[in-house]
Amino acid sequence: MQVIICESPEQVGSRAADIIEARVRQGPAVLGLATGSSPSGTYRELIRRHREEQLSFSDATAFTLDEYAGLPLDHDQSYHSTIRREFVDHVDLPLSRLLTPHGDAEDLRAEAVRYDEAIREAGGVDIQILGIGANGHIGFNEPTSSLNSRTRVKTLAGATRSDNARFFPGGEVPQLCLTQGLGTIREAHQAVLVALGANKAGAVRAMVEGPVSAFCPASVLQLHPRAVVVLDPEAASQLQLIDYYRRAQELNDKLLGR
Ligand code: F6R
Repeated sequence: MQVIICESPEQVGSRAADIIEARVRQGPAVLGLATGSSPSGTYRELIRRHREEQLSFSDATAFTLDEYAGLPLDHDQSYHSTIRREFVDHVDLPLSRLLTPHGDAEDLRAEAVRYDEAIREAGGVDIQILGIGANGHIGFNEPTSSLNSRTRVKTLAGATRSDNARFFPGGEVPQLCLTQGLGTIREAHQAVLVALGANKAGAVRAMVEGPVSAFCPASVLQLHPRAVVVLDPEAASQLQLIDYYRRAQELNDKLLGR
């Protein structure tokens, strides 16, 4: 796992955007998109590069990670609407190639299987953008999720529902969701996880330095051959080998002429 510690949230957005841009400029890319606050800076930076530096997403396809059960695509708080608001509507990625699980499907289990197959049929995800929950989840794979799980219906943890209550003022956070499984996420060719803030520091430490364990679902990225974790100083603050990561990063940047 490559650990990059940045000086500020802005720099996190820019480093993560560099990795995504490099893949998008290579040719038609299948992007895996996370929602939530962590990747917002990354999306803002990609939008800026689209507007100012001719970074085009016109050949890309995008799969979102997860969706609340019970919300139609056009619900204000559906992840489909959120990712459009935060990213897709501001770049030239064709809307027909933004694919999200349908949280209002009549048969949610069948919808999960359909979505997992759609990812496979598209040739798999080339680059998966991830955030991490304070409880160590990625996607909505809550603690104790099977490390081999596929896209499925999942019950949201109480902690996740409290964390996300801010987006549902006066309403209830759904109890269930559809999420790509850890097995599905692991198949992405490359993974870029961004984490910001002190409330992620414990989860980041467990993910990077703890054992691979279903209790910290993000730790499954230790098994991924091309996983990069981009952190701000607060999110990195509990890492035991922080000096080592910084030195490795410095040497790597030198090698790449940064
Ligand atoms: C969102 C997702 C979640 C979030 C995580 C962190 O699609 O899959 O795993 O990445 O809950 O959320 P934020 O970034 O809002 O702290």
